[in-house]
Amino acid sequence: MTLDPAFQVFLGDCRIRVERALHQWLPPDSTQPVRLHGAMRYAALGDGKRVRPVLVYAAGQALGARPECLDAAACAVELIHAYSLVHDDLPAMDDDDLRRGRATCHKAYDEATAILAGDALQTLAFRVLCEDDELCVNRADRLRMIAELAHASGSRGMAGGQALDMEATGREIDLAQLENLHIHKTGALILASVRLGGLAAGASSDARMSGLERYAKCIGLAFQVRDDVLDVEGDTAVLGKTRGKDAATDKATYPALIGLDAAREMTQRLIDEALDNIATFDDAADPLRQLAHYIVGRTR
Ligand code: IPE
Ligand code: IPE
Ligand code: MG
Ligand code: MG
Ligand code: MG
Repeated sequence: MTLDPAFQVFLGDCRIRVERALHQWLPPDSTQPVRLHGAMRYAALGDGKRVRPVLVYAAGQALGARPECLDAAACAVELIHAYSLVHDDLPAMDDDDLRRGRATCHKAYDEATAILAGDALQTLAFRVLCEDDELCVNRADRLRMIAELAHASGSRGMAGGQALDMEATGREIDLAQLENLHIHKTGALILASVRLGGLAAGASSDARMSGLERYAKCIGLAFQVRDDVLDVEGDTAVLGKTRGKDAATDKATYPALIGLDAAREMTQRLIDEALDNIATFDDAADPLRQLAHYIVGRTR
């Protein structure tokens, strides 16, 4: 897909910012325990798209925040995401060998180290939100941000969705159950990214937050449906993860349940709905609009 040039610059800037923050917050791999710190850096600094941090910056900008105020939230959501990928790839879960174009964390290190790296990436995310000096919010909003991320990551958010995913593997579930699964395993952290961007902008009581949340719910579901579609029609070399794993392991996915064409149409409908929810926002929300198109058009 061809990206809008201004959005391409925005994406590049966001990625540089969050990668700098990650680099600074992750302990050096020259410090003890070096193997654990090496695995954390390996997992978090790999070649990810940084979609969740970009959402933090895009949502924050839409509500008037400066990028400096958004780095902590961007870094925190990416740390949670990196942890979720490390655990998702473990033999006890999806048992994958390839992630972000190279060996999964437990393959490059070992299972015990990968479990611990995930644990430590998760707790580091909360340290960042607690301690970052550039986060220009009052204490009440900082607490709201911490609670938001904890809720989105936990048993009623991402971890809960992953539990539903494991339960559904090899079983028949209906459309409502599949939607619920996807909303939790992937949608929760995407919604939290947008909400954290808004909270970092000091906009907890801004009327635009509800439109932003509806936008986020649509793109969160669309993101996972696109992920399911790419598992069928993508290219392993481009994806950086093994194509065809979902069908081979009988995962609950949209292409499996409704077919590939219907799944593709669904992502487009969700993106249109996402855009409707921020239609009244000004130009500062353009990256949010472009990001919605990017999510359905992406090939990795
Ligand atoms: C993969 O997420 C896991 C899902 C929730 C679908 P991404 O597609 O954002 O993976 P990276 O961060 O770019 O590697
Ligand atoms: C993973 O979904 C969701 C989380 C990591 C929370 P998938 O299992 O479909 O992600 P990929 O395809 O391995 O990236
Ligand atoms: Mg999985
Ligand atoms: Mg997986
Ligand atoms: Mg997948």
